[in-house]
Amino acid sequence: MTDLFDDGGLNERMSPQFPQSYNHFRILSNRRSGQPLSIATLVEKGLIGVSRSGFLRQPVQSQLPVKQPKTEPAIETTTQCKEIPAMSRTREEPVEVAEASVYRRYAAAANQREAALCCPVEYPADYLAVIPDEVIERDYGCGDPTPYVKPGDTVLDLGSGGGKLCFIAAQVVGASGRVIGVDCNREMLALARKHAPTVAERIGHANVDFRYGMIQDLRLDLSLLEQELALQPVHNAEDYLRLRHLQDHLRQAHPLIEDDSVDCVVSNCVLNLVRQEDRHALFAELFRVLKRGGRAAISDIVSDETVTDEMKRDPELWSGCLSGAYREDEFVKAFADAGFYGIEIAKRVKEPWQTIQGIEFRSVTIVAYKGKQGPCLERNQAVIYRGPFKKVEDDDGHTYWRGERMAVCDKTFGLLSRSPYAGLFDAVEPRVAIPLEAASSFNCQRAKIRDPRETKGHDYAATTDPAGPTCQLDPDCC
Ligand SMILES: C[S@@+](CC[C@H](N)C(=O)[O-])C[C@H]1O[C@@H](n2cnc3c(N)ncnc32)[C@H](O)[C@@H]1O
Repeated sequence: MTDLFDDGGLNERMSPQFPQSYNHFRILSNRRSGQPLSIATLVEKGLIGVSRSGFLRQPVQSQLPVKQPKTEPAIETTTQCKEIPAMSRTREEPVEVAEASVYRRYAAAANQREAALCCPVEYPADYLAVIPDEVIERDYGCGDPTPYVKPGDTVLDLGSGGGKLCFIAAQVVGASGRVIGVDCNREMLALARKHAPTVAERIGHANVDFRYGMIQDLRLDLSLLEQELALQPVHNAEDYLRLRHLQDHLRQAHPLIEDDSVDCVVSNCVLNLVRQEDRHALFAELFRVLKRGGRAAISDIVSDETVTDEMKRDPELWSGCLSGAYREDEFVKAFADAGFYGIEIAKRVKEPWQTIQGIEFRSVTIVAYKGKQGPCLERNQAVIYRGPFKKVEDDDGHTYWRGERMAVCDKTFGLLSRSPYAGLFDAVEPRVAIPLEAASSFNCQRAKIRDPRETKGHDYAATTDPAGPTCQLDPDCC
């Protein structure tokens, strides 16, 4: 039965063959009232997860009594869930339970501060001054990525919680920018939305919007999905197929976050909470929503060693932002694998936040850029790496030797002239510029070093006077 829930395994043609005993679809609605359960409730109970390609994932049907739909008495979903021993589920489906425990823990932490989730972070006091105390006290972040936000930016905060980061970013971007917070926890969204008008009044503009979604599936708007589920609850396999089509439709027609729409993605202590099987999709989504030239600034908890499976199975450690932590080198690699460049460990807190069984967990902030993709055009440009290293290599594998005039394509020339490389290289423009529309493809097999004659022209034979003020005017001049 479980196999039928695999994301790729269902299609319409299969539906007539589905066994009658697929009563696990009915746990999606309350069978007495006929009302669908909210997505939040389903996630909270560990009954579903959301992935890019499907909605249901490993529900607990194997533990539920299998009954024929027409004769069975009404099932209270909550009762069903209570009957399932939590620990046995933990052993069989550790990550699923971890996701449910994340929901429960942050729902509670939205209503009352949970000290164990707080990691000391200093935010600029000026920005905090306008933020209501209730938001500040329910701060569960572990770093501050807001220094990488710029005026006018469109900012997306992944796992916005009570909204503190969004409210800081709203002030940095100013009235011309905007900020979107995404969270899958309705209690956290309620907390953030409650205080948004107060912050807007205090800063003089309303530019923050909190949206209901999962950060590994930023196309799917869970508010729209809940509305549809209320109208057409899922009772059987056919409904489930319809639900899958509906999700695809919503992702295409009404994406929660559009492609290439964000200048800066920020996040504070959230990525470690995402299930491991969703992490590839998470980074793909992060990359998708950024504009070309946009940046990600992500603070999170990382470990110095691989976390043991036993620790990963502990829902308390997972929801506490510990056992789901990326290993620090794997965290950096995840950005590179997703296609980012210029990846930098902007901050790595020296002292661990916590140490468990000798494994250190500490906060880091990573900054990474989108935009190295695209055509390579020859415009006779070069760059000279200033040092201090003998040589460095970029994310495309190009090597730059200190002091050498390295031939680069127009795209790389542009990248190396901007953040985060600006200042590390001297840009050497050709004497006669090649217009973009006249540029040919860059030959990657060519000599790595650009002869000065290439940029100046082979027939260049000028002789000039010393540049700048003449010696007659300035007696100290060389
Ligand atoms: C540790 S708190 C951090 C909240 C906030 N960033 C802050 O600095 O206070 C984690 C937040 O991420 C949310 N969250 C966890 N997993 C999520 C997911 N897959 N999609 C969206 N939000 C998620 C939780 O609901 C919670 O609000």
